[in-house]
Amino acid sequence: MAVQTEYELTAGTLDGMDSPQSGRQTPDAPAANGSHSIHADPPVPGVPAIDLQGVVKAYDRTRVVDEVTAQIPAGGVTSIIGPNGAGKSTLLSMIGRLLQADGGTIAVGGQDVFDSDTRALARKLAVLRQENTTTVRLTVWDLVSFGRFPHHGGRPGTDDERLVSQALGYMDLHSFAGRYLDELSGGQRQRAYIAMVLAQDTDVLLLDEPLNNLDMKHAVEMMRLIRRMADELGKTVVIVIHDINFASCYSDTILAMKSGRLVHQGRPDQLMCSETLKDIYDVDILVEEIRGKKIGIYFS
Ligand SMILES: Nc1ncnc2c1ncn2[C@@H]1O[C@H](COP(=O)(O)OP(=O)(O)OP(=O)(O)O)[C@@H](O)[C@H]1O
Ligand SMILES: [Mg+2]
Repeated sequence: MAVQTEYELTAGTLDGMDSPQSGRQTPDAPAANGSHSIHADPPVPGVPAIDLQGVVKAYDRTRVVDEVTAQIPAGGVTSIIGPNGAGKSTLLSMIGRLLQADGGTIAVGGQDVFDSDTRALARKLAVLRQENTTTVRLTVWDLVSFGRFPHHGGRPGTDDERLVSQALGYMDLHSFAGRYLDELSGGQRQRAYIAMVLAQDTDVLLLDEPLNNLDMKHAVEMMRLIRRMADELGKTVVIVIHDINFASCYSDTILAMKSGRLVHQGRPDQLMCSETLKDIYDVDILVEEIRGKKIGIYFS
């Protein structure tokens, strides 16, 4: 496989890579029963999964991420919400080391991300970008297989194949395994990229708008899967999400950004109130409690 010699995948950085297989591959994929997954390393007591201290990113002296300090505990779901341009993707990209910070420190599992070895970091942390494209023509199976690269370094074993197959199963993609990405619908392609990230089987998952293009059924299944990843496998999942009701129902913690700053943080029941949401989005949102969950109603 002719890929870049220094493997740059903290997922989603496939541009410029050659296809790992020549031509279309239709693997004889075993049914994913979800029975196997590697549990996250037990968190070190007192060490947050992600520790952000005064993180800054500026373009032309304008700070788009402005002194963000937050601790994200291990083994839970944290949603980052906020209006367009608030700095959510920029922050996530810096945590995933896809983008250099201009100030502050970012540690994952107690280790500074910018001091970490690339492949070691890719075994610990996977990133789904908001926009995903590849210049290389890949099948779904090929793409998802890239998620295993940090573990096998070019020599996949049966364990790798099983995890690829399992990730395809999670995303309901077995029947598309041999299809090229440009032969998929937008939602199917999004699920393929998510499957690649899941196949990476890391302790920490950073997902930028994972529900993009997903229909209702797949969106709900995605959120349930995210919950299971945290509850059953002890993974730390950080998602950027626009749907405040999904954030409310499925997160342990919500971080709200606005104009580059972290303006609110807390449990969903603490953040989901009209006043706070008005402050974040400048929209009047009625909040009702339905089956024990706070739901925002903004169609009026
Ligand atoms: N390469 C860049 N050069 C200049 N400005 C940039 C660059 N990338 C992002 N920005 C600006 O930084 C700000 C934050 O962008 P970011 O993509 O983090 O927002 P976001 O909160 O993810 O928004 P959205 O909800 O629309 O995805 C925006 O104002 C954007 O225009
Ligand atoms: Mg974004």
